[in-house]
Amino acid sequence: MIRICFVCLGNICRSPMAEYMMKEFVRREGKSKDFIIESRGTSYEEQGNDLYPLAQRKLKEENIPFERHFAKRLEKSDYEKFDYFYCMEEKNIESVLKIFDDPLCKVKKILDRDIADPWYTRNFDCTYLDLKEGIMSILNNKTS
Ligand code: 4NP
Repeated sequence: MIRICFVCLGNICRSPMAEYMMKEFVRREGKSKDFIIESRGTSYEEQGNDLYPLAQRKLKEENIPFERHFAKRLEKSDYEKFDYFYCMEEKNIESVLKIFDDPLCKVKKILDRDIADPWYTRNFDCTYLDLKEGIMSILNNKTS
């Protein structure tokens, strides 16, 4: 069992998109039972809010199922609940390390480059492709 938490700033765009995408990709491979997949934000700004409408539209377009999402801020107690925290950008890592220390090196970036915030860029097509690349590389490393 691999426990993965995707992390972004608000937990209404990138990290929940990654959560629902990875859940669907592992489901298609019949590997849902091998993973726990969740997401969090580093800020309380959007706490309790649903997935951003343009993120919902992109997931629908790609046939990725999702549920009513409740944005959640990452908490210190999450450290022991997950094996990996995949962050979207360098700034997220800095914020995560203010919430908890990382003695087990669980905190990583999903790609070598930052995934731009679509809240500002409005480019959810690009976000989807970046997330897909990151998730595929996670799956290739963890399940091969
Ligand atoms: P996310 O995008 O980090 O990909 O969920 C954002 C959503 C909301 C805000 C910032 C980024 N905000 O400032 O409210």
